[in-house]
Amino acid sequence: MPLILTSFCVALIALSGWGLELQAQRPDDLNGLTNEELYQVSCANCHGPDGRGLDRSLIGFEEAIPDFTDCDFAAREPDADWIAVAHEGGPVRGFSEMMPAFRGALTVEQLERVMVHIRTFCTDSSWPRGELNLPRALLTEKAYPEDEWVIEAGAAVEGEGSVGSAFIYERRFGPRSQIEVRIPYGWRQRREARDPTRREGWVSGLGDVTLGMKHALYHSIESGTIVSLSGEVILPTGDESKGFGADGALVEAFASFGQILPSDAFVQAQAGVELPLHSGADNEIFGRLVLGRGFSQGQWGRSWTPMIELSAKRSIEHDAVTDVDIVPQVQVSLNTRQHVLANVGLLVPATHRADRSVRLLFYVLLDWFDGGFFEGW
Ligand code: HEC
Repeated sequence: MPLILTSFCVALIALSGWGLELQAQRPDDLNGLTNEELYQVSCANCHGPDGRGLDRSLIGFEEAIPDFTDCDFAAREPDADWIAVAHEGGPVRGFSEMMPAFRGALTVEQLERVMVHIRTFCTDSSWPRGELNLPRALLTEKAYPEDEWVIEAGAAVEGEGSVGSAFIYERRFGPRSQIEVRIPYGWRQRREARDPTRREGWVSGLGDVTLGMKHALYHSIESGTIVSLSGEVILPTGDESKGFGADGALVEAFASFGQILPSDAFVQAQAGVELPLHSGADNEIFGRLVLGRGFSQGQWGRSWTPMIELSAKRSIEHDAVTDVDIVPQVQVSLNTRQHVLANVGLLVPATHRADRSVRLLFYVLLDWFDGGFFEGW
């Protein structure tokens, strides 16, 4: 009986003032309820007792209610984002104010318990959880299969002028797989043929286009771990005479790994081989490691993620040298929904500095499953 009454109260408040703080009951009154009962009294009026969302005709507003049983949608959203939305209301992540703020009515701990129940609606555990979608570093390929558009850019900050850019499209299919296309374009200062110390204007051109596939072999939200295998073909589409791209096609195979650490820290790693399909080039091995930590501005605001990345590459010839780069960087969310993010960093060569220059690296990415570029600002 008390359950029905509380539910009725929450429904009344929800119907009488969208977006207002719900203060009908004090959070303490609800402490005796189970996770499921908490959900039923607070959320089911709109999200439905089964998590599918009530029909728009029943709730009387335009916004579609998300379907918590749809694993493709639900699994990728981290609890922290959902708790922010439930505590502060839809607008805190650029959603509608029809999703009311529960601060005052439910504590963060109670919302965490509601999440435990909401997580039972998706019954297929093969979808990796969104918490494992660790921030994208500038070089290290992440293990999580993503729906992303990324525009990368890089420029030498010393020596010969060189600017690189790339457009990357990533698309998930099934719970654990992803395809990827990377289209690079570059600009570089040309040396004069007669006198290589002199520069004679800029050339530009397409680089080597990459087609890739990724599959998550293992993931566990309990241990905070995800491991993927990827294969890529790098096509010789670049104009090698202008200095864009390799002599011929290459294939790359690598494993990537992500691990959540305590206090919003994480480590990601990638290791693999690059094998040229043409003669005259060496097989190479490479490894990358990135350590980072997330911070949010205020309790629910903009996310900042400083990272430090280490990248090493060498040919497998026994007298070969290893190129090592260190890349300090910081990723920041640009919009309220936090699905448009940017990262800026400095690639600093740690070995053979004479041949390689410091580069400024940058990307802006759109997690397009969460909305278009102009949504949620
Ligand atoms: C008054 C109706 C109403 C109630 C009650 C309600 N919601 Fe919502 N909720 C909505 C609407 C409408 C949206 C969709 C907003 C949009 O898409 O802009 C939404 C969206 C959400 C989302 C965002 C999902 C996403 O797209 O990432 C979460 C999370 C959520 N609600 C959790 C909860 C929880 C938890 C409760 C209970 C504590 C709750 N809601 C109670 C109406 C409601």
